[in-house]
Amino acid sequence: MAEPAPPIDQTTLRNPPNDTPDPPQALSKSAHKRLLKQQRLESKKAERKAAMKEQKQRESERKRREWEEKMKGLSEEEQSKVLEGRRLVRNERMAKRAEERGLKIERLARAKELGQKVVVDLDFSDLMTASEIHSLAQQIMYCYAVNGRTTSPAHLWLLGCKGEIGAQLQRLPGFDKWMIEKDDKSYIEVLQDQKENLVYLTADAEKELDELDPKSLYIIGGLVDRNRWKGITMKKANEQGIQTARLPIGSFLKMSSSQVLTVNQVFEILIKYLETKDWKTSFFQVIPPRKRSEAEVEEDGENEEQEGGHDQRKRICVEESSHDKESIPA
Ligand SMILES: C[S@@+](CC[C@H](N)C(=O)[O-])C[C@H]1O[C@@H](n2cnc3c(N)ncnc32)[C@H](O)[C@@H]1O
Repeated sequence: MAEPAPPIDQTTLRNPPNDTPDPPQALSKSAHKRLLKQQRLESKKAERKAAMKEQKQRESERKRREWEEKMKGLSEEEQSKVLEGRRLVRNERMAKRAEERGLKIERLARAKELGQKVVVDLDFSDLMTASEIHSLAQQIMYCYAVNGRTTSPAHLWLLGCKGEIGAQLQRLPGFDKWMIEKDDKSYIEVLQDQKENLVYLTADAEKELDELDPKSLYIIGGLVDRNRWKGITMKKANEQGIQTARLPIGSFLKMSSSQVLTVNQVFEILIKYLETKDWKTSFFQVIPPRKRSEAEVEEDGENEEQEGGHDQRKRICVEESSHDKESIPA
């Protein structure tokens, strides 16, 4: 028989712990300055996006004109040869993509049966601003994308998938077809009968993760808050009487700032660990060099290639353009 979940004190959860001040009602001078800075950054980002879009349009227009010019100079026979060549290349590309898609579906289907279960707790919508919720949706999209590419995917659960975050996720292309579990109910309701296997990952936990236990379900707090809600996941897990653990970052590297990572970084570290069974490699491949201390980066020359791997990965990831230091807050 499943043990019933203790009632959760939502009021205390929604309030930061006593040692942190309540978010100010009227903006302080520095908060106002920060807000203005954020607005300036966002407007610059929108300008950059519009300029890039225009440049892309000009480029495709130029290519189209070049193509037309090229075709004009050819005989009918030559034209049909060029067109046939193009068709072949396109068909090959489509076949390769279909094959990759098939393999990805196989891997994710296997993960559904046997993969490590990782839950994202989406029950924090009312603690975030609209742009933080947007950022969270992007981070989750990134989690799903990297999970589909890895050889040992996890089985992703999005629980508490409702409200603004639910709506934003629903707008992501293909979201309905994602091979995940999702429910608008919270994890504590959905996983009631597995409570003893739930482990809430939180940077504030005393216990350090040693390895990943296939029986456990690891929960990541779906929160983008620049740690404004310091300790909230720890408090929630304690109130619900579930286990907590932090990533063993300190045992492997020095961080230049706090050890609080973004949702997608934590998720990616977990799947890298599933692939490599090596925390150090997982941290070095995922945690951006700017978040590690200078000494650590210099000391660890052997990891240069991995850091390169990180940069390479960054280039292809969805968050690259919009989510570097300022815009992918933890
Ligand atoms: C941006 S953080 C949210 C920070 C939030 N103030 C809190 O109290 O959890 C997003 C989530 O990533 C996970 N996380 C971040 N850093 C972690 C770490 N060093 N160890 C374990 N989990 C971590 C936690 O689940 C956390 O809720």
